[in-house]
Amino acid sequence: MTNVSGAGVVVTGGGGGIGRAIARRLAADGARVVVNDLDEAAAQAVAAEIGGLAVPGDAGTEEGVANLIAEAAKGLGEIDIYCSNAGTAAGSGPETPDALWQRAWEVNTLAHVRAARLLLPGWLDRGGGTFVVTASAAGLLTMLGAAPYSVTKHAAVGFAEWLAATYAHRGLAVHCICPQGVRTQMLAGSGRAGDVVLAAAAIEPEQVADALAAAMADGSFLVLPHPEVRDYYLKRATDTDRWLRGMSRLQRRIDETDETDETEGTGASA
Ligand SMILES: NC(=O)c1ccc[n+]([C@@H]2O[C@H](COP(=O)([O-])OP(=O)(O)OC[C@H]3O[C@@H](n4cnc5c(N)ncnc54)[C@H](O)[C@@H]3O)[C@@H](O)[C@H]2O)c1
Repeated sequence: MTNVSGAGVVVTGGGGGIGRAIARRLAADGARVVVNDLDEAAAQAVAAEIGGLAVPGDAGTEEGVANLIAEAAKGLGEIDIYCSNAGTAAGSGPETPDALWQRAWEVNTLAHVRAARLLLPGWLDRGGGTFVVTASAAGLLTMLGAAPYSVTKHAAVGFAEWLAATYAHRGLAVHCICPQGVRTQMLAGSGRAGDVVLAAAAIEPEQVADALAAAMADGSFLVLPHPEVRDYYLKRATDTDRWLRGMSRLQRRIDETDETDETEGTGASA
């Protein structure tokens, strides 16, 4: 169970979307929050709003994570809760260039590894600390149209599980947030697959922050702001072929939407 009141917190990608909602929620619950974002003005604006400290920078590089943790430790004294939230949805299928696959790996997976590498020694000495990974339902299931995203989010879930399995008995709390669609800039940019698969059930970033707060209070690892994800995850594990057939039907719908748009674009639908 994580005590938020008075805690020193870092949120990466806290200048907008889910990260901003988490920063606001934890600050409202009494935490002292360091807001990181690639977008310096966005980090400053959220920090000013919640009485926190802005540490802009790239959470997807080794230097960016090291600088963030060093500056946050200076500002907070101790970092008690680290929310590794920044993510990238760039890329599509295997044709995606290696450079974009690498960036997805660094932002969506290695960022968590690099932060844990720096934070764990102190946390294990103290016998406590809370590590939050914003993964995705794509990390438990898959996201059509987004192979680098799905693969690196699976790895993020894998790393979060590993951390919890290895260090829970030494006081580490780990929470892994796995939403489907959330109304942010990322969802707005998710194209046809996002429209077909995610838009109808999309929720607000504040609902994700509420689900995290509830998980921190009761100690649960998986944070599922869309409760139906638990059923899909179960189906994937227990009847994989049926689950894959369902995903294939969804892909066909996305392909058909694409074809409709193409004919509309040429005027052939009239
Ligand atoms: N929106 C969704 O539907 C959805 C669903 C599941 C999981 N997620 C995950 O939630 C997290 C937050 O996504 P969001 O929807 O709020 O995204 P978003 O695109 O709205 O971005 C939020 C903020 O992160 C910042 N950011 C991006 N890359 C960064 C980096 N390398 N370093 C520091 N800051 C960075 C952006 O500048 C932005 O202010 C991501 O990990 C994403 O994969 C989002």
